[in-house]
Amino acid sequence: MSFEPAEWPRRLRSQEWYGGVSRDNIYHRGWLKNQGYPHDLFDGRPVIGILNTWSELTPCNGHLRELAEKVKAGIWEAGGFPVEVPVFSASENTFRPTAMMYRNLAAMAVEETMRAQPIDGAVLLVGCDKTTPSLMMGAASTDIPSIVVTGGPMLNGWFRGERVGSGTALWQMSEDIKAGKMTQEEFLEAEQAMSRSSGTCNTMGTASTMASMAEALGMALSGNAAIPGVDARRRVMAQLTGRRIVQMVKDDLKPSDILTREAFENAIRCNGAIGGSTNAVLHVLALAGRVGVDLTLSDWDRLGRDVPTILNLMPSGKYLMEEFFYAGGLPVVLRRLGEAGMLHKDALTVSGGRIWDEVSDAVNWNDDVILPVERALTASGGIAVLHGNLAPNGAVLKPSAASPELMKHRGRAVVFEDIDDYKARIADEDLDIDETCVMVLKNCGPRGYPGMSEVGNMGLPPKVLRRGITDMVRISDARMSGTAYGTVVLHTAPEAAVGGPLAVVRSGDMIELDVPGRRLHLDIPEAELQDRLKAWTRSEPPPASGYARLFHDHVEGAESGADFDFLKGCRGNEVPKDSH
Ligand code: FES
Repeated sequence: MSFEPAEWPRRLRSQEWYGGVSRDNIYHRGWLKNQGYPHDLFDGRPVIGILNTWSELTPCNGHLRELAEKVKAGIWEAGGFPVEVPVFSASENTFRPTAMMYRNLAAMAVEETMRAQPIDGAVLLVGCDKTTPSLMMGAASTDIPSIVVTGGPMLNGWFRGERVGSGTALWQMSEDIKAGKMTQEEFLEAEQAMSRSSGTCNTMGTASTMASMAEALGMALSGNAAIPGVDARRRVMAQLTGRRIVQMVKDDLKPSDILTREAFENAIRCNGAIGGSTNAVLHVLALAGRVGVDLTLSDWDRLGRDVPTILNLMPSGKYLMEEFFYAGGLPVVLRRLGEAGMLHKDALTVSGGRIWDEVSDAVNWNDDVILPVERALTASGGIAVLHGNLAPNGAVLKPSAASPELMKHRGRAVVFEDIDDYKARIADEDLDIDETCVMVLKNCGPRGYPGMSEVGNMGLPPKVLRRGITDMVRISDARMSGTAYGTVVLHTAPEAAVGGPLAVVRSGDMIELDVPGRRLHLDIPEAELQDRLKAWTRSEPPPASGYARLFHDHVEGAESGADFDFLKGCRGNEVPKDSH
């Protein structure tokens, strides 16, 4: 049996494995044939890797095997050769100390998986928070044509007639228990109502935000982000995505063609309009670093400043992703940005066309979900980036989730040296704290709490909660779940564990937060601040070995996305030499 290549615009990289009659070609092809593939499938058609983050321990992605079958159907229909490839799946709700510690590992694994194997194009099958950025980062560093399809959000949760938003309700109910407003039995009953179907968190948490970012960046088909995980249209989207990637390979439409500065600016503005997660700041900055777009925290502040938050979804608002889909989904938001002159309309998407052509006729079917500007949740909804002597490299705050009356605040610091210190003392009735204080948490940044845990929205002291207070100013170098809320300053950089000014704050110091003025100030004399910084020494030794040591030695600061220094940039997809 000979090998006769079919008509195709060019020889694809998979042909280095399968396209010929050499001993090595026969070795690569022959072994794959144990899966029952006919010989003529190796005729030069594109091999499409369906990079699947399915795992039974990533419940948010638990239905992705089923969706992968629909992606495969689309690839076959369009003349491609689909292969489903499992990749590292960093689950938000199981990985300890935090899934964020493994985002870069997953990105590295995906990059090497794509480059080292006969993959001409990739469908990135993702959902849970870190799976979406890690696969986009890995794909961007190979620049192999790639398209995102997400698993979609869970259906609305309902408990006693009220919507139960993933995460958001959990934070609220745990505070209600501390305040004596809810019993443990009721909490357990509510647990049964939280996750009614397959899919990701149903709030505008990090998963929904990153699905929206992928769509706004042009890396997913229009309308992908909001379709519920169990809606038949999610499966249609998967099949269409499979069809589309084959054409993208034909057209050689690569991540570097799509992930331009204009695309990143569209994503940042979109994040403001949807009240997206602060985690997007880290992921979008890291992704930009992979394709060499010089994006900074200042871009987040500058571009988001005038963007009103028009999406009425938890944690900032009232509804959930299911209702967002019924209202028209992300295309409506992007259309509104375009009409306000806040969208680069010519930005290219995986469709091969302009983003504006995808969204310009989107219809809003519910203006209580996608609000008119006059009823925006926040007029200036973009992520606020703060600077000052407490955050020389920046810190972030999400205005749509904060309390307006706390946006300018001066208060006495109550300092927790780390998360264990916080847990040990927060419920102490003798703790010297009231609602005018500023809670400060140290050593939870990328290195301090490896991976930068989502503990920045530390719960309030029970004695304050019992008086009906629901928000206080909180400052840390940690992250916050996209489902959480409050006047919470996050990602303070440099972090305490590397000797940033946060490390030397003491209980009793006065701190000034001025969000409109973008200022975060520790009100002590400059000379004293310098003396304290000089006297600071690191107390924790670095991990002795293993991935934790690699992470410690190479993770960058939050201000640039917490990627590894050696992973930045695109290393391309040249086919590695064969050793057989
Ligand atoms: Fe996986 Fe929220 S925990 S999407």
